[in-house]
Amino acid sequence: MNMPSNNQSSQPLQIGNVSVNSRVMLAPMAGVTDVVFRGLVRRWAPDSLICTEMISSNGLVYSKRFDAPILDKTITDQPIAYQLAAHREEVLLEAARTIIRDKNPDTIDLNMGCPVKKITGNFEGCALMKEPDLAYKLISSLVKALEQDGTPTPVTVKFRLGWDSQSMNYKEFALMCQDAGASMVTLHARTRAQGYKPGCLWDAFGELKQTVQIPVIANGDIYTQDDALHVINTYGVDGVMIGRGTLGQPWLIADIDRALKTGERTPDASVKKRLETAYEHARLLADYRGEVTGVKEMRRHLTDYVKGFQGASQYRGRLTAVNTLKDVQAILDEVLEAVEALPQPLLVAV
Ligand SMILES: Cc1cc2nc3c(=O)[nH]c(=O)nc-3n(C[C@H](O)[C@H](O)[C@H](O)COP(=O)(O)O)c2cc1C
Repeated sequence: MNMPSNNQSSQPLQIGNVSVNSRVMLAPMAGVTDVVFRGLVRRWAPDSLICTEMISSNGLVYSKRFDAPILDKTITDQPIAYQLAAHREEVLLEAARTIIRDKNPDTIDLNMGCPVKKITGNFEGCALMKEPDLAYKLISSLVKALEQDGTPTPVTVKFRLGWDSQSMNYKEFALMCQDAGASMVTLHARTRAQGYKPGCLWDAFGELKQTVQIPVIANGDIYTQDDALHVINTYGVDGVMIGRGTLGQPWLIADIDRALKTGERTPDASVKKRLETAYEHARLLADYRGEVTGVKEMRRHLTDYVKGFQGASQYRGRLTAVNTLKDVQAILDEVLEAVEALPQPLLVAV
């Protein structure tokens, strides 16, 4: 296996012409990694590449809503990857050019792994793993067009093991991405058919690393600092991308980054820190979206923050029904009081 030393883990990651000072990235998550959530992640992790939610190229080009909230970005939101889904070359080019013009992204990521029927039914996401020629055309024409425009933003591709267990073409697909001019690939080590079921094939990371020369990022079921170190040291990948592990703990990217750079482990956050961050997240989302929409959108996050410690489950139902910031504060205060009254607050696996 090609093993990086700790020293390499603290070196910048080169993605085409962009250098990123961290090997830990925030995964794109629709409905989660909006500008507010990214702002929280960024507060702890100044160096990491963070990704937007998936943006539909069709949606962007045909609606002409260039001010849609999904496109929003703040000044601290850099380095940032904007993720696009597409299946038509000219639409992808227009969407990417619009984003580059308006948002100055560090990289453009192409979604070729989404398993959701609405997306694959439109020949986007993981459906492109069944159409490698079309995928090649999309990647190569985008890379060439951006070079010709004089805005050679690196194009990266995120995909899965394959459509199903009978058609695991991740190695050929990665080679195709490289030939098409992609600057990095990220593998979510499940098939489309697996959805999010347990059972990531981490060994595939090592195989991919042996297959292509461009950076390989490992994704899927990496939840802890030890998981990340294990994946990097065992498979020699160039970095890790974390999705669900960050839910309710937006500092996780930074904790993993520190562990990779220094070998030091950061202890689990206290319940108090989790609850205080939960309230702040709610307040920021309410500021951004207005209280009615913001608090509704916050419900799913609240159950992530109030998870993994004794007595948490009894509050989660109530948190999914909150309507105002006052409701949020009242329930979180109650949770904290109950936890602090315990002889020794127990943290259990999240
Ligand atoms: C709520 C949710 C939304 C997601 N949205 C996207 C998306 O927009 N684009 C994408 O490429 N992957 C998306 N994913 C997949 C994640 O980026 C990631 O590949 C997957 O969750 C595995 O990583 P994890 O085990 O660290 O969560 C989503 C996952 C979740 C849970």
